[in-house]
Amino acid sequence: MRHIVSGKTRICGLIGDPVEHSMSPVMQNAAFRELKLDYIYVPFRVKSAELGQAIAGMRALNIRGLNVTVPHKVAGVQFLDELDHLAEKIGAVNTIVNDDGVLTGYNTDATGFLQALLEREIEPSGKTAVILGAGGAARAIAFILAERGATLLILNRALELDWAEELARRLSETFNKKVEALELNRENLAPALDKADILVNATSVGMSPTADETPVPADRLRPDLIVYDIVYNPMKTRLLREAEAAGASTIGGVDMLVWQGALAFEKWTGRKAPVELMKREVIRLLKRQV
Ligand code: ATR
Repeated sequence: MRHIVSGKTRICGLIGDPVEHSMSPVMQNAAFRELKLDYIYVPFRVKSAELGQAIAGMRALNIRGLNVTVPHKVAGVQFLDELDHLAEKIGAVNTIVNDDGVLTGYNTDATGFLQALLEREIEPSGKTAVILGAGGAARAIAFILAERGATLLILNRALELDWAEELARRLSETFNKKVEALELNRENLAPALDKADILVNATSVGMSPTADETPVPADRLRPDLIVYDIVYNPMKTRLLREAEAAGASTIGGVDMLVWQGALAFEKWTGRKAPVELMKREVIRLLKRQV
């Protein structure tokens, strides 16, 4: 049956800039429909200068939940009433829940990343993870992996090495465990990967339209490595193709995208998310865009 928006419909959405290419409206509305929930999900393009007003407007408009995307994940924190412990450590949110005017922030990028590992029965505790990149996504990933007991090594391109060092310093302090940051180059990559159980590409290298690029030479990949690329467009990046060819286990960015959405859905609705359906919808959308 067609969903009819009425006075009772609960509203969720996305704030970011830009939001035009977001997969979330299709993914979330499909999930609401599947569970016959009287909810709707809409994108809001919000300029940085108006972020505070937009978040305060959640209370005024009785919006139940928001996803927060680039460039508002860090700046959004200051406008919230509560933060869950992980979002607080990371210093960034991608999900807000409005409980009768009390706004709580979560980071389901981090928990969604983890969930894609756990559903494959990969437990990060005791493993060594090499993270490529030190941007927003890398930060959420590094915190959840460290919290879960992994040993971390962060590699970032020279240009912004300070970011990587700052991230490593914060992780070392928070978890009382040394986290190293190095420049991302061939010389550092080889010994780092020799020690690694999990390799995470949290850079945008390999993302369309430069899908012919890879952050790791194919000859560094091996069968006992788990290769997790958070790039989801293309779904199978060159890194993932080469990892597969080397016999490594692979996880693509669609899984993290879907799980962050599924976990946000569960916070807003209190219902178990139809994860497989959400994944099918995202894949359908990505295939149409090619
Ligand atoms: P996101 O929110 O997806 O993490 P981001 O915060 O812009 O986006 O981070 C992108 C990451 O990809 C950064 O670590 C960036 O490196 P810099 O910190 O040096 O900018 C990394 N990145 C982007 N293009 C890259 C390239 N060509 N080579 C290596 N790293 C790259």
